[in-house]
Amino acid sequence: MAKLTAGIACSHVPAIGAALDNGKSGDDYWKPVFAGFDFSKLWIAAQKPDVVFLVYNDHATAFSLDLIPTFAIGCASTFQPADEGWGARPVPVVEGAPELAAHIAQSVIENDFDLTIVNRMDVDHGLTVPLSLMFGQPQAWPCKVIPFAVNVVQYPPPSGRRCYMLGKAIRKAIESFPDDLNVQVWGTGGMSHQLQGPRAGLINREWDNRFLDRIVNDADDLSKTPHIEYVREAGSEGIELVMWLIMRGAMDDEVQQIHRFYHVPASNTAVGHLILKNKETA
Ligand code: DHB
Ligand code: FE
Repeated sequence: MAKLTAGIACSHVPAIGAALDNGKSGDDYWKPVFAGFDFSKLWIAAQKPDVVFLVYNDHATAFSLDLIPTFAIGCASTFQPADEGWGARPVPVVEGAPELAAHIAQSVIENDFDLTIVNRMDVDHGLTVPLSLMFGQPQAWPCKVIPFAVNVVQYPPPSGRRCYMLGKAIRKAIESFPDDLNVQVWGTGGMSHQLQGPRAGLINREWDNRFLDRIVNDADDLSKTPHIEYVREAGSEGIELVMWLIMRGAMDDEVQQIHRFYHVPASNTAVGHLILKNKETA
């Protein structure tokens, strides 16, 4: 049977991708950002996941403001890196896991969480930057990826509670798939940032660190945080953090923190990163 072996949380920032792609990851500004992932790269090379279920958000790239699904599961066999205005990132094509994705779609929808099925989709920095942070710059990504896009761009996004409960349904779906697969769930985006308006540039270190504490040890209660608190405390784009709750919902109530990293600045965003394992598999 497939097994969920770890949960990873990781910010995405387009400038991180640009720093890597343009050979600037050793610059003074970027060095401390990438250093936070040195442990993670070694750890994941040893873990060798077969499939990553990657929760992320599309930034009006594959979906325009004409049509925005709340939860969309990528069921294709490949996903091309998107052109977000300056050419596609020079990263490998993302290989999907169509059979597992179709199984998860069926299981989750039968468990009352409606998903949008996506059979063709380009993937933007929301998905490719976390892959780059965790795997570096390989010729091919070392695992298959199921892209799971969440609307955090057009109000109203799903609630944190909905995301957390959906994570539980995703766990059940993964662990009822008959093939012996090592599967990780990643929750990406965040932490605090605001890209527009009078509060552009907002970062809230204290709130972010409390979020990191609570998503490890107090996740059920954290999941009840209303949208308005994310926006007020973590900025308009801080709402991306609800995606971490899908990852957390997929894990056991009690988890072991394997790695934690927090850094400011990276472009306009606070970068946060966690590696979690269930206690019995740690
Ligand atoms: C930035 C951060 C994001 O999450 C994003 O999607 C785009 C830009 C930034 O920090 O510039
Ligand atoms: Fe974003």
